[in-house]
Amino acid sequence: MTQQGPAFDVNAMTLTRWVLSQQRTAPSATGDLTQLLNSIQTAVKAIQTAVRKAGIAKLHGISGDTNVQGEQVKKLDVLSNDLFINMLKSSYTTCLLVSEEDSTVIEVETERRGKYVVCFDPLDGSSNIDCLVSVGSIFAIYKKQTPGEPSEADALRPGRELVAAGYALYGSATMLVISIGKGKGVNGFLYDPSLGEFVLTDPNMRIPEKGNIFSVNEGYAAEWSEGLKNYIHDKKHPKSGKAYGARYVGSMVADVHRTIKYGGIFLYPATKSAPNGKLRLLYECNPMAFIVTEAGGLATDGRRDILDLQPAGIHVRAPCFLGSRKDVEELLRYLK
Ligand code: AHM
Ligand code: MG
Repeated sequence: MTQQGPAFDVNAMTLTRWVLSQQRTAPSATGDLTQLLNSIQTAVKAIQTAVRKAGIAKLHGISGDTNVQGEQVKKLDVLSNDLFINMLKSSYTTCLLVSEEDSTVIEVETERRGKYVVCFDPLDGSSNIDCLVSVGSIFAIYKKQTPGEPSEADALRPGRELVAAGYALYGSATMLVISIGKGKGVNGFLYDPSLGEFVLTDPNMRIPEKGNIFSVNEGYAAEWSEGLKNYIHDKKHPKSGKAYGARYVGSMVADVHRTIKYGGIFLYPATKSAPNGKLRLLYECNPMAFIVTEAGGLATDGRRDILDLQPAGIHVRAPCFLGSRKDVEELLRYLK
């Protein structure tokens, strides 16, 4: 009698393999982007391991403490930032880095420089770390356009010029979602801990044209514009049909990932006390707008497409509304 074990995918499309195959289809490719994406993949794997054992390893909120082995313990966000920086620098493909954790740009040493500029939030959703709610990493990749020494100006580019962008969600499982350029679509890779690899599980992700969920921190409603108040009111009290459901994790990566999977709209608006909202343009709004747009959705600051905004500084903020095309278009009619 032949033994029938569980089906085993002997042709697993791992992220490494997928990136390589994409490189092969671009005749002029040098392999640098492949190397760069692999370094991000390594950082994400290490961060996900740290996130999963944070409680046991006492990585929560005790930066600078010493663990039982007498080693310095770093907080998860500090550790994640160090991992991103170290991996990106040692990929030999980057020249300038912008991190949410660092007030100024990080210049890569001359001998390790390459042509890419990477903006990232190594661990987003910091307020959710200590209570075990999903967090994520977000990254945006530009190609340096000017000759000479890298400078801040190389990172102050509209999202429209991005070469690639993606995010990792450390949720009930770890997923890496990535787009490697305009028209190239969005692909999702789920981490298989038994393999230690990300495996393509969500090829060509498309956001539903319209959803039935809104995702916003309603605690600040008193400070919203009238148009936004009316929009959310009408989602809760529709003249016809069912009301929209409300979902808000408070981790942008989780909220945006759900919006892509199920449809609907994610909103982080301007308020009276925060006229540009909270989310940062370079490493939160832009990469997410790039992904959502590539998946067939829309992303706007209420007036312009997020991807057309010219950043005035590396840590500037922008109001951010993104999601299903019809939902965002409807919101825009209220905001006019
Ligand atoms: P952080 O970078 O300090 O973690 O803040 C960004 C996070 C986003 O993930 C999330 O969308 C937003 O802050 C939630 O903010 P709020 O608590 O004001 O709703
Ligand atoms: Mg953040």
